[in-house]
Amino acid sequence: MTPEELETLITARRSNLLIDASREIDSSIVERIVNTAQWAPNHKRTWPLRAAVISGDSRRVLGDTIADAMAAHGDDDIKVLKTRGKFMRSPIVIVVAAAKGDTSNETEENKYAVAAGVQNMLLMAESFGLAALWGSPAKGANDAITALCLMESTDHVMGIIYLGWPTQSVRIPERPGNQVTYLS
Ligand SMILES: Cc1cc2nc3c(=O)[nH]c(=O)nc-3n(C[C@H](O)[C@H](O)[C@H](O)COP(=O)(O)O)c2cc1C
Repeated sequence: MTPEELETLITARRSNLLIDASREIDSSIVERIVNTAQWAPNHKRTWPLRAAVISGDSRRVLGDTIADAMAAHGDDDIKVLKTRGKFMRSPIVIVVAAAKGDTSNETEENKYAVAAGVQNMLLMAESFGLAALWGSPAKGANDAITALCLMESTDHVMGIIYLGWPTQSVRIPERPGNQVTYLS
């Protein structure tokens, strides 16, 4: 791959939820995408990535699980109701979490490592022509999500990634100029 090809891949990736929810993704593709997350750097080789690949009816279970936690935290009814069905919008949903470290610094750096892993996944998805979107988990739902995904309760859910074949492309959000200091 040339630098230009890599640059093209990186800049072509968009957050896109315009997905054909009824079109399956071959499981070998999903597996390859998830595996790329483990190739991100991680400090002290703590290997903090935790992931759950969710499809079929389990997407609704995920929605209900998060919605129930939101309701218990007093979120408004409309938001709670919307959450119940929201994960049906893509054929695959990937919950990504970072393991707790032995120190607060390690826990923080584990999150950086997992964020880098998510970007690997998003780029790999782009290389297959798939649409993906990194969604934030609802506040207060961490324990409910980790329990459903058979993770440790101390794992921190970093995001819920929607994955599927695109029905449309999305507008490219403008990037501000980089704030980079060059010292020589
Ligand atoms: C940590 C994180 C959380 C995000 N959460 C959401 C979200 O909850 N909903 C959403 O629509 N987009 C979410 N995004 C995607 C951003 O909105 C998106 O990256 C941004 O608008 C830039 O667009 P681009 O990814 O196409 O370059 C999230 C991105 C990150 C890095």
